[in-house]
Amino acid sequence: MCSLVQKYNIPGPRYTSYPTVPYWNMETFSGKKWNQTLIRSFGESNAAEGISLYIHLPFCESMCTFCGCHKRITKRHDVESPYIDTVLREWHLYRNLFSEKPIIKELHLGGGTPTFFSPENLKRLINDIFRHADRAEEYEFSFEGHPNNTSREHLQALYDVGFRRVSYGVQDYNEGVQKAIHRVQSFESVQHVTEWAREIGYTSVGHDIIFGLPHQTLEHVKETILKTKQLMPDRLAFYSYAHVPWLKGNGQRGYKDTDLPTGEEKEVSTKMEGNYWRK
Ligand SMILES: C[S@@+](CC[C@H](N)C(=O)[O-])C[C@H]1O[C@@H](n2cnc3c(N)ncnc32)[C@H](O)[C@@H]1O
Ligand code: SF4
Repeated sequence: MCSLVQKYNIPGPRYTSYPTVPYWNMETFSGKKWNQTLIRSFGESNAAEGISLYIHLPFCESMCTFCGCHKRITKRHDVESPYIDTVLREWHLYRNLFSEKPIIKELHLGGGTPTFFSPENLKRLINDIFRHADRAEEYEFSFEGHPNNTSREHLQALYDVGFRRVSYGVQDYNEGVQKAIHRVQSFESVQHVTEWAREIGYTSVGHDIIFGLPHQTLEHVKETILKTKQLMPDRLAFYSYAHVPWLKGNGQRGYKDTDLPTGEEKEVSTKMEGNYWRK
C-alpha cells in the first residue's frame, strides 16, 4: 500500500474522458478522424451492448478554490437554455452520422454542477435526447449534484426521466477547511439531499470526499469519515486532492503550497488505524 501511495502521489487526470486530456494530440486531430472513430465505435457497441453518453454541464454559481473540473462560474441563469440548445444540436450532428437508432445504456450528467440548471431544463435536455434514441433494456443514468443547490424538484424531475444514481460533492465537513476551499456546506444540507434521494427511490447515493486539501489535517479527514458513516452513502469516492495550479490558477493559487498536507501526511489518511472505514 505504502509504495502504491508513493507511486501515485502525483497530479493526474480524473475520469470522464478517454483518452484523458493530457493525451489529446491537437496536431494530428481532425474532424474527419473524429467522425470515423465515432462511427466505428458506435457500430461496435450500439447493437451489441448499447452506448454510454456523458453530458458536461459546466456552470457553477460559486468557485470552489480547490476545483480541478472544467467549469464556468456565473450567477446568470439565462445561460441555461442556449447551452442546452447547443448540446442538442451537437447530439443531432452525431445522430446524422449513426446508421441506426442509438440505444443508450449509460447516461451521466457531470460538471460543473448539473443542478445549476432548473429541473425543467434538465428534463427538456433528457427528453429531447430520447426523441432520437432508445433506452437499453437495462440502463443506468446518474448525475452529480451539489448539496447546496440540489432541490427535491431536481431529484424528482431526474428520477421521472430514469435517473437512479446521484453523487454529491462533500469534500470535507470541517469549517476551516471549507472556508479555505471557499465551499461552506453543512452536514444538514448533505443529510437532506441524501434522504430526499432515498425517499424518492434512488438506489445509489454517492458522496465525494477528498484528502490532501489546504489546511486539512488527519483529524479533519477522520471527522469527515465519521460523519459520512452516519449517512451511509452507497458509493464513496475518496479522492486525493489534485494540485494543478498551472492549469487551475485562479482557484488553486488562492493558498500556498505550504498550506497543503505533505505526501506522507496524505499517505497516513489512506491507511488510518481504528475502525474508521468499518460500519
Ligand atoms: C463536478 S464535481 C461534483 C459536483 C458539484 N459540482 C459539487 O461540487 O458538488 C466532481 C467531484 O470532483 C472532485 N474534485 C474536483 N476537483 C478536484 C481536485 N482538484 N482534486 C480531487 N478531486 C477533485 C470533487 O470531489 C467533486 O465533488
Ligand atoms: S467543486 Fe463542483 S461546485 Fe465547486 S467549482 Fe468545482 S464543479 Fe463547481
